[in-house]
Amino acid sequence: MKITLRKPKLSDLKKFRNIFNDKEVAKQLSGYPYPLSLKEARKNLQNTINQNKKGNYYEFAIIYNKKFVGMIVLEKPSKNKKTFTLRYAIGRKYWNKGITTKAIKEIIKFGFTKLKLKKIVADNDEDNPASGKVLEKNQFKFIKKIKKKRRGNKRINVLFWELKK
Ligand SMILES: CC(C)(COP(=O)(O)OP(=O)(O)OC[C@H]1O[C@@H](n2cnc3c(N)ncnc32)[C@H](O)[C@@H]1OP(=O)(O)O)[C@@H](O)C(=O)NCCC(=O)NCCS
Repeated sequence: MKITLRKPKLSDLKKFRNIFNDKEVAKQLSGYPYPLSLKEARKNLQNTINQNKKGNYYEFAIIYNKKFVGMIVLEKPSKNKKTFTLRYAIGRKYWNKGITTKAIKEIIKFGFTKLKLKKIVADNDEDNPASGKVLEKNQFKFIKKIKKKRRGNKRINVLFWELKK
Protein backbone atom coordinates (compact mmCIF):
# COMPACT_ATOMS: atom_id res chain seq x y z
CA MET A 1 0.00 0.00 0.00
CA LYS A 2 1.45 3.36 -1.00
CA ILE A 3 0.95 6.49 1.09
CA THR A 4 2.49 9.84 0.31
CA LEU A 5 2.38 13.11 2.20
CA ARG A 6 2.35 16.44 0.39
CA LYS A 7 1.57 20.06 1.23
CA PRO A 8 -2.17 20.86 1.01
CA LYS A 9 -3.39 23.21 -1.75
CA LEU A 10 -6.49 25.35 -2.12
CA SER A 11 -7.49 23.12 -5.04
CA ASP A 12 -7.98 20.31 -2.45
CA LEU A 13 -10.96 22.23 -1.06
CA LYS A 14 -13.78 20.02 -2.33
CA LYS A 15 -12.20 16.79 -1.10
CA PHE A 16 -11.04 18.43 2.10
CA ARG A 17 -14.60 19.52 2.85
CA ASN A 18 -16.05 16.10 2.00
CA ILE A 19 -13.76 14.46 4.53
CA PHE A 20 -14.33 16.89 7.39
CA ASN A 21 -18.03 17.47 6.77
CA ASP A 22 -18.76 14.21 8.57
CA LYS A 23 -20.25 13.99 12.04
CA GLU A 24 -18.08 11.02 13.07
CA VAL A 25 -14.85 12.71 11.99
CA ALA A 26 -15.72 16.21 13.25
CA LYS A 27 -16.73 15.04 16.73
CA GLN A 28 -13.14 13.95 17.42
CA LEU A 29 -11.61 17.24 16.27
CA SER A 30 -11.59 20.71 17.72
CA GLY A 31 -12.06 23.51 15.21
CA TYR A 32 -14.28 21.52 12.85
CA PRO A 33 -17.96 22.31 13.28
CA TYR A 34 -20.56 19.95 11.84
CA PRO A 35 -22.02 20.62 9.37
CA LEU A 36 -19.00 22.28 7.79
CA SER A 37 -19.93 24.90 5.20
CA LEU A 38 -17.79 25.36 2.12
CA LYS A 39 -16.91 28.83 3.44
CA GLU A 40 -15.74 27.46 6.80
CA ALA A 41 -13.82 24.66 5.07
CA ARG A 42 -12.05 27.19 2.85
CA LYS A 43 -11.14 29.24 5.93
CA ASN A 44 -9.70 26.16 7.67
CA LEU A 45 -7.76 25.03 4.61
CA GLN A 46 -6.43 28.54 3.96
CA ASN A 47 -5.40 28.82 7.61
CA THR A 48 -3.54 25.51 7.32
CA ILE A 49 -1.70 26.73 4.22
CA ASN A 50 -0.80 30.01 5.97
CA GLN A 51 0.44 28.27 9.14
CA ASN A 52 2.57 25.95 6.97
CA LYS A 53 4.19 28.99 5.35
CA LYS A 54 4.95 30.52 8.76
CA GLY A 55 6.63 27.30 9.91
CA ASN A 56 4.36 26.95 12.95
CA TYR A 57 2.66 23.88 11.57
CA TYR A 58 3.80 21.12 9.28
CA GLU A 59 0.53 19.91 7.89
CA PHE A 60 0.28 17.42 5.04
CA ALA A 61 -2.40 15.98 2.82
CA ILE A 62 -2.41 12.18 2.99
CA ILE A 63 -2.49 10.69 -0.51
CA TYR A 64 -3.59 7.07 -0.92
CA ASN A 65 -3.95 5.52 -4.38
CA LYS A 66 -3.53 9.05 -5.81
CA LYS A 67 -6.52 10.25 -3.79
CA PHE A 68 -6.63 12.92 -1.09
CA VAL A 69 -7.90 10.96 1.93
CA GLY A 70 -7.01 13.02 4.99
CA MET A 71 -4.65 15.31 6.84
CA ILE A 72 -1.80 14.85 9.29
CA VAL A 73 0.01 17.59 11.17
CA LEU A 74 2.84 18.39 13.54
CA GLU A 75 1.64 21.50 15.34
CA LYS A 76 1.90 23.56 18.54
CA PRO A 77 5.71 23.73 18.74
CA SER A 78 7.33 24.10 22.14
CA LYS A 79 9.31 27.33 22.70
CA ASN A 80 12.57 25.76 21.53
CA LYS A 81 10.72 24.06 18.62
CA LYS A 82 12.02 20.64 19.66
CA THR A 83 8.63 19.20 20.58
CA PHE A 84 5.53 19.19 18.37
CA THR A 85 2.03 17.77 18.80
CA LEU A 86 0.76 15.22 16.30
CA ARG A 87 -2.83 15.17 15.02
CA TYR A 88 -4.48 13.33 12.14
CA ALA A 89 -7.80 12.54 10.51
CA ILE A 90 -8.91 10.63 7.47
CA GLY A 91 -12.22 10.19 5.64
CA ARG A 92 -14.55 7.59 7.13
CA LYS A 93 -14.60 5.37 4.04
CA TYR A 94 -10.83 4.95 4.36
CA TRP A 95 -10.77 3.89 8.01
CA ASN A 96 -9.13 0.63 9.13
CA LYS A 97 -6.96 0.13 6.07
CA GLY A 98 -3.72 0.99 7.86
CA ILE A 99 -3.46 4.39 6.16
CA THR A 100 -2.97 6.51 9.29
CA THR A 101 -0.48 4.06 10.78
CA LYS A 102 1.67 4.53 7.67
CA ALA A 103 1.14 8.29 7.49
CA ILE A 104 2.31 8.61 11.12
CA LYS A 105 5.41 6.58 10.28
CA GLU A 106 6.19 9.06 7.48
CA ILE A 107 5.64 12.19 9.56
CA ILE A 108 7.78 10.80 12.42
CA LYS A 109 10.63 10.34 9.95
CA PHE A 110 10.15 13.91 8.75
CA GLY A 111 9.98 15.28 12.31
CA PHE A 112 13.08 13.54 13.61
CA THR A 113 15.29 13.85 10.54
CA LYS A 114 14.26 17.08 8.77
CA LEU A 115 13.03 19.12 11.77
CA LYS A 116 15.48 17.50 14.19
CA LEU A 117 12.80 17.21 16.86
CA LYS A 118 13.53 15.63 20.22
CA LYS A 119 9.96 14.61 21.00
CA ILE A 120 6.54 14.21 19.41
CA VAL A 121 3.49 14.19 21.67
CA ALA A 122 -0.11 13.21 20.98
CA ASP A 123 -3.36 12.54 22.79
CA ASN A 124 -6.59 10.72 22.17
CA ASP A 125 -9.95 10.64 23.83
CA GLU A 126 -10.51 7.35 25.61
CA ASP A 127 -13.67 6.77 23.60
CA ASN A 128 -11.63 6.93 20.37
CA PRO A 129 -9.48 3.79 20.71
CA ALA A 130 -8.49 3.69 17.00
CA SER A 131 -6.65 6.96 17.54
CA GLY A 132 -4.66 5.47 20.41
CA LYS A 133 -3.98 2.29 18.45
CA VAL A 134 -2.22 4.12 15.60
CA LEU A 135 0.07 5.77 18.16
CA GLU A 136 0.81 2.48 19.90
CA LYS A 137 1.61 0.87 16.55
CA ASN A 138 4.19 3.62 16.00
CA GLN A 139 5.91 2.98 19.35
CA PHE A 140 4.45 5.98 21.19
CA LYS A 141 4.59 5.46 24.95
CA PHE A 142 1.50 6.00 27.07
CA ILE A 143 2.21 8.70 29.69
CA LYS A 144 -0.95 9.55 31.59
CA LYS A 145 -4.72 9.74 31.61
CA ILE A 146 -6.47 12.96 32.59
CA LYS A 147 -10.15 13.87 32.82
CA LYS A 148 -10.75 16.92 30.61
CA LYS A 149 -13.64 19.01 29.43
CA ARG A 150 -14.09 18.51 25.71
CA ARG A 151 -16.77 18.50 23.06
CA GLY A 152 -19.44 20.77 24.48
CA ASN A 153 -18.04 20.61 28.03
CA LYS A 154 -18.38 16.85 28.34
CA ARG A 155 -15.85 15.46 30.87
CA ILE A 156 -13.92 12.64 29.26
CA ASN A 157 -10.70 10.75 29.86
CA VAL A 158 -7.88 11.88 27.59
CA LEU A 159 -4.83 9.66 27.10
CA PHE A 160 -1.44 11.34 26.58
CA TRP A 161 1.39 9.78 24.57
CA GLU A 162 4.95 10.66 23.59
CA LEU A 163 7.69 9.47 21.29
CA LYS A 164 11.27 10.48 21.97
CA LYS A 165 14.00 10.41 19.38
C1 LIG B 1 -8.33 7.68 14.28
C2 LIG B 1 -8.15 7.52 12.78
C3 LIG B 1 -7.24 8.61 12.27
C4 LIG B 1 -7.55 6.12 12.52
O1 LIG B 1 -7.21 6.05 11.16
P1 LIG B 1 -7.11 4.69 10.34
O2 LIG B 1 -6.43 4.99 9.03
O3 LIG B 1 -8.41 4.02 10.31
O4 LIG B 1 -6.08 3.86 11.25
P2 LIG B 1 -5.38 2.47 10.89
O5 LIG B 1 -6.20 1.72 9.90
O6 LIG B 1 -3.95 2.74 10.54
O7 LIG B 1 -5.37 1.74 12.31
C5 LIG B 1 -6.54 1.68 13.10
C6 LIG B 1 -6.36 0.65 14.18
O8 LIG B 1 -7.36 0.85 15.18
C7 LIG B 1 -8.10 -0.33 15.37
N1 LIG B 1 -9.46 0.03 15.74
C8 LIG B 1 -10.43 0.58 14.98
N2 LIG B 1 -11.55 0.76 15.69
C9 LIG B 1 -11.27 0.32 16.94
C10 LIG B 1 -12.03 0.22 18.14
N3 LIG B 1 -13.28 0.66 18.20
N4 LIG B 1 -11.42 -0.30 19.23
C11 LIG B 1 -10.15 -0.72 19.20
N5 LIG B 1 -9.37 -0.67 18.08
C12 LIG B 1 -9.94 -0.15 16.98
C13 LIG B 1 -8.00 -1.05 14.04
O9 LIG B 1 -8.25 -2.41 14.16
C14 LIG B 1 -6.54 -0.76 13.67
O10 LIG B 1 -5.63 -1.56 14.40
P3 LIG B 1 -4.99 -2.91 13.78
O11 LIG B 1 -4.26 -2.50 12.54
O12 LIG B 1 -4.06 -3.39 14.84
O13 LIG B 1 -6.09 -3.83 13.47
C15 LIG B 1 -9.52 7.61 12.04
O14 LIG B 1 -10.43 6.75 12.66
C16 LIG B 1 -10.09 9.03 12.02
O15 LIG B 1 -9.78 9.84 11.17
N6 LIG B 1 -10.99 9.35 13.00
C17 LIG B 1 -11.61 10.68 13.11
C18 LIG B 1 -10.61 11.76 13.48
C19 LIG B 1 -9.81 11.41 14.72
O16 LIG B 1 -10.29 10.74 15.61
N7 LIG B 1 -8.58 11.88 14.80
C20 LIG B 1 -7.73 11.64 15.95
C21 LIG B 1 -7.84 12.74 16.93
S1 LIG B 1 -6.22 13.48 17.12
